[in-house]
Amino acid sequence: MNRVAVVYWSGTGNTESMAKAVAEGAQKAGVPEVALLTVGEAVPGIVGTVDAVALGCPAMGAEVLEESEMEPFVAALTADSLQGKPVLLFGSYDWGDGTWMREWGERMKGLGAKVLAELPVKLDPKEEDLARCREAGALLAGN
Ligand SMILES: Cc1cc2nc3c(=O)[nH]c(=O)nc-3n(C[C@H](O)[C@H](O)[C@H](O)COP(=O)(O)O)c2cc1C
Repeated sequence: MNRVAVVYWSGTGNTESMAKAVAEGAQKAGVPEVALLTVGEAVPGIVGTVDAVALGCPAMGAEVLEESEMEPFVAALTADSLQGKPVLLFGSYDWGDGTWMREWGERMKGLGAKVLAELPVKLDPKEEDLARCREAGALLAGN
């Protein structure tokens, strides 16, 4: 894969740490162009322009995506841009059971995405969680 985007929302930095590790994993696996962007810096159209994408968001509300930026971004993704596209989902959570990420994965699959992995991490990612993020990031290289 030549171009990968890692797009995330993070309120207190946990998902941001994961995003950095995912991007690092993709870079180390040889992806020449890795864009690491907050969702506020990204536009949904970017998904159509990259070979693979990683999307990160913590569980918010009651087991939903963050509603002011991430949910509108995800809602704007089209089947055209996602059909057959490798997608990695990641994010932090606390008291829930990962429902938000399972539903997010189903939603992406429903639009034709090839979900490579779903990576929920409880609260702040520990070194072993960051290692899993780097490994998942390496999957985006498609080697
Ligand atoms: C408004 C709000 C709603 C939340 N809702 C959930 C939830 O439904 N399920 C859950 O497991 N954690 C929930 N959490 C906990 C966050 O997912 C958790 O604190 C996470 O580590 C935040 O990640 P971040 O540092 O990337 O913002 C919520 C936190 C906040 C502030």
